[in-house]
Amino acid sequence: MTLTTLNFINGEWVSAQNGSFIRSINPSDFNEVVGTIADSTIEDLDDAVQAAKRAGVSWRKLSAVDRGNFLHKAADILENNVDEIAEIATREMGKVLHEMKGEVKRGVAILRYFAQEGMRQTGEVLPSAQSNNFLYTKRVPIGVVGIITPWNFPVAIPLWKIAPALIYGNTVVFKSASETGITAAKLVEVFNQAGIPGGVINFINGKGSVIGQGMVEHNDIHAISFTGSNEVGKQIAIGMAARGAKYQLEMGGKNPVIVLEDADLDLAANLTVLGAMKQTGQRCTATSKAFVQRSVYDRFKERVIEKVQSLKVGPGLFNGIDMGPLASKNQLDSVVDYIDKGLTEGATLLAGGRIPMGSECKNGFFIEPTVFGNVTNNMVIAKEEIFGPVLCLIKVESLDEAIELANDNMYGLSASLFTKDLAKAFIFADQIEAGLVQINGETGGAEPQAPFGGMKASSSHSREQGQAAKEFFTTIKTITITP
Ligand code: UN1
Repeated sequence: MTLTTLNFINGEWVSAQNGSFIRSINPSDFNEVVGTIADSTIEDLDDAVQAAKRAGVSWRKLSAVDRGNFLHKAADILENNVDEIAEIATREMGKVLHEMKGEVKRGVAILRYFAQEGMRQTGEVLPSAQSNNFLYTKRVPIGVVGIITPWNFPVAIPLWKIAPALIYGNTVVFKSASETGITAAKLVEVFNQAGIPGGVINFINGKGSVIGQGMVEHNDIHAISFTGSNEVGKQIAIGMAARGAKYQLEMGGKNPVIVLEDADLDLAANLTVLGAMKQTGQRCTATSKAFVQRSVYDRFKERVIEKVQSLKVGPGLFNGIDMGPLASKNQLDSVVDYIDKGLTEGATLLAGGRIPMGSECKNGFFIEPTVFGNVTNNMVIAKEEIFGPVLCLIKVESLDEAIELANDNMYGLSASLFTKDLAKAFIFADQIEAGLVQINGETGGAEPQAPFGGMKASSSHSREQGQAAKEFFTTIKTITITP
């Protein structure tokens, strides 16, 4: 079954003006074309932006409670379509079906959280120096917002940007990664079925270099929210700053766990492996290196190896699979390259490292879950984001040394400490340079009501979700009424 996906502009599904298409391939079986998506031009983008601009006039006038009702309807429709959307997403990007179903359910929770946001505070009353004056603030929409999302969370990330954009009265031009363009179209159709007025959400497929760049340069796009690579994020920041527009970037991570000698080693090993290998390591929050106190290093290492070797690799739609393929040939080549670098730099390969041989893997972009020991913090595999199922083990003497090494990195997204010592937990929470901090937890994960984002090169220093979303998707008016 090959699915064809068009653009969605002004409430209608329409082809790109030049009629060109991009193919979406199943990474578990590259002979399967999941479907085709439009390869749009700048003219198509302009149609989408103009539709969003026109629709914004009445959308912002609706009460936020009414806007919330559309999101509630969208949540119900998505909830009724979890299985279908999860299956399409697994076919497009490979993650195992139960993880993908979990993500779609997360999408439902995100929609419900932001639907309720239509009933919450959007300003404050302040005392004025003039006793009779009424001084207050009011948050208002920014206007047309461009949403650019990656393939690794093809449902949750678009929704945690689109839902707040809409509830606060903005209209949207949405571009998803081409790898998951069909899943993205299904999400847009959910909003369409929820009866959202034409032009409020517009969906445009195409190449990042054309449509992403076109959004950055379009004067009628007032803000862009982006999740993806640092390289692209930097270009967006430069382009948006140049024309004085707002931007929000969520980018890479190189997320550490620290395992102390008093930790529950089974828990630490299980959550470290889960953190590293879940979604085939393709999460910006994935666990990438474990700093382990010398006295427990060997015991922790054995548990990690045992756990990793028990993981079953295969197509995400098959039963009993723990880890699916990488999302594309490019991803596979890049991860293989990092594994080679690890070997060249002298790290010890403790598990995995090869392309699996099983017949169910022969037509996909599979790699074994991989663990390196004897890693030092200055090796490339310990410094750069790999975005694949590769875990580095690094021996340390103390918590202080581990924190110092963990902080010696350009990224600062998430970090976790395994200990039973509450005092050490507080030291870590204070000193670690990460936007998301866990004690005895996995480095990944996000809840819709909590701010999400990183320090240093991991973000543009803003946060997504929770009340933090309001900061980005609104602007403040300060109003004084002199009676
Ligand atoms: C999670 O860990 O569940 O692209 C969310 C990413 C992040 C989202 C992670 N922006 O991996």
